[in-house]
Amino acid sequence: MIICFSGTGNTRYVAALLAKELGEKVHELSAQELRHPEHIALKPKELGERVIWAFPTYGWLVPPVIERVIQFIPTSMQAVPHYMVTTCGDDMGILNRKWAELIGGRGWVARGAYAVQMPNTYVFMPGFDVDSPEVVQRKLDAAPARVAEVAEAIRRDVKELLIPGSFARVKSDVFGSAFRKFYMSPKPFHYTDACVGCGMCAGSCPMENIVMLGGHPQWSVNCAFCLRCYHVCPHHAVAYGKQTAKKGRYTSMLKMVVKKK
Ligand SMILES: Cc1cc2nc3c(=O)[nH]c(=O)nc-3n(C[C@H](O)[C@H](O)[C@H](O)COP(=O)(O)O)c2cc1C
Ligand code: SF4
Ligand code: SF4
Repeated sequence: MIICFSGTGNTRYVAALLAKELGEKVHELSAQELRHPEHIALKPKELGERVIWAFPTYGWLVPPVIERVIQFIPTSMQAVPHYMVTTCGDDMGILNRKWAELIGGRGWVARGAYAVQMPNTYVFMPGFDVDSPEVVQRKLDAAPARVAEVAEAIRRDVKELLIPGSFARVKSDVFGSAFRKFYMSPKPFHYTDACVGCGMCAGSCPMENIVMLGGHPQWSVNCAFCLRCYHVCPHHAVAYGKQTAKKGRYTSMLKMVVKKK
């Protein structure tokens, strides 16, 4: 089974390709499961031969929501080997080691870790923006072959296909924790005058963290920091402090995670 979390669709797309290659089922974590991982009702017999954790890289670390799922899911998972596939815009640091520690902490076996580069979604810090259309296309064109490589690595028991990047340890250990502390707060979210009250941001949040109040979105504290609400808004009316006024949107894979009404 592939257990998947995806903010803007990249990881869901990669999980779908991998599922096809390996004949696996994808379990997309629901808002209730992400918010209350201790109540996830997966049965050991549903897992199949292995568990593949699929999630985006956040600040060169495992997303906190996935950390919590690994720590608190009540399903017994000792009997199967565990793998991870992360999607990253650039590089993943030493996230694979952090994931292996979490898996080891449950007494489970971490067998393989892999990364697939996909278009970047992070735009909330100065100097960070979405990729140019050419870079988006180049990354999307390269993804299926990379996923096929990952599938082959899993079949042949090749343990790693990583994209650590430069200064990988410093990025995960130093920048990653600072990033979490200072840049992963939902507090700066707000709507701008461009908001038409369509409710798409609220309706698509994977954590059900947004309610419409008086015709406009209101953010609460149960945020996975996935940026789906920002990228999904057709009017570019979701803002994060003053950082996003001139930033772009990434929409190519939203269809993987946002159902049309
Ligand atoms: C909060 C946040 C932090 C991110 N940090 C990183 C990072 O450390 N390294 C990287 O290469 N990409 C980073 N990204 C980009 C995503 O990992 C990448 O675009 C991923 O494919 C998004 O997957 P998704 O569409 O399934 O959410 C970050 C994105 C977000 C939203
Ligand atoms: S998606 Fe944009 S326009 Fe629609 S309610 Fe949300 S902020 Fe407003
Ligand atoms: S509020 Fe926005 S960033 Fe937070 S989980 Fe929901 S969609 Fe993702």
